[in-house]
Amino acid sequence: MAVTGGVLVLFLVAHMVGNLKIFMGAEDFNHYAHWLRTMGEPAVPYRTLLTVLEVGLVVAVVLHMWSAVSLARRARAARPVKYEAKKKSHAHGYATHTMRYGGVIILLFIIWHLLDLTFFVVNPKGGDASPYERVVADFAPERWYITLFYVVAVLLVGLHLWHGIWSAFQSLGLRSLRNEHTLRVLALTVSVVLTLGFLAVPLAVTFGWVS
Ligand code: HEM
Repeated sequence: MAVTGGVLVLFLVAHMVGNLKIFMGAEDFNHYAHWLRTMGEPAVPYRTLLTVLEVGLVVAVVLHMWSAVSLARRARAARPVKYEAKKKSHAHGYATHTMRYGGVIILLFIIWHLLDLTFFVVNPKGGDASPYERVVADFAPERWYITLFYVVAVLLVGLHLWHGIWSAFQSLGLRSLRNEHTLRVLALTVSVVLTLGFLAVPLAVTFGWVS
């Protein structure tokens, strides 16, 4: 879980930085989207490196979900009777419970998101428009409900990251009594920065700061 989660966090950092290029204007953003497809040219054909990255992402997501299911099965097998004290959950209890359901909702969001901005099936502008035009059309003020959907999904991603990064520190054996506070702050900071970074684009378009 920790290793595939780490790969996905790296993707999210890169994706957030790329998205923020929209604030530099249409030309910069479209240039960046074009570069994603031409990376490695002429050494390798059009879209080769992007396809390798996409396959890597799919593998990471599948392994991440497979680990989640097998860990949950192992936990149930180890303790078939539920804990009586479970209701008096610990500090991270809320985030823990939302991991499973949150993960499923995030997956549904990603499927919508790919249909929207990668395959253009549900995008108002479709495949003939530029990447900038597609994002601006997507979060136009009259489509506030799409922005709301993205905001909810991004907040869930943020919660998932907060708990996930913290758990990863534990799984990788990095946690000790001395550094516990630092690692908690680090997990929270990374999640908050990514959440705000992702929220910025849909909100900026809906409120007319990017058009
Ligand atoms: C909320 C603000 C977001 C915006 C504005 C946004 C925008 C975009 C755009 C424009 C693309 C197409 C890139 C291209 O092919 O040129 C894309 C692809 C993608 N996004 Fe997002 N995204 C956002 C959030 C997220 C989140 C939170 C996730 C994951 C949890 C995510 C996962 C993906 C994936 C997996 C792809 C496909 C990458 C590929 O085709 O290689 N995005 N996004």
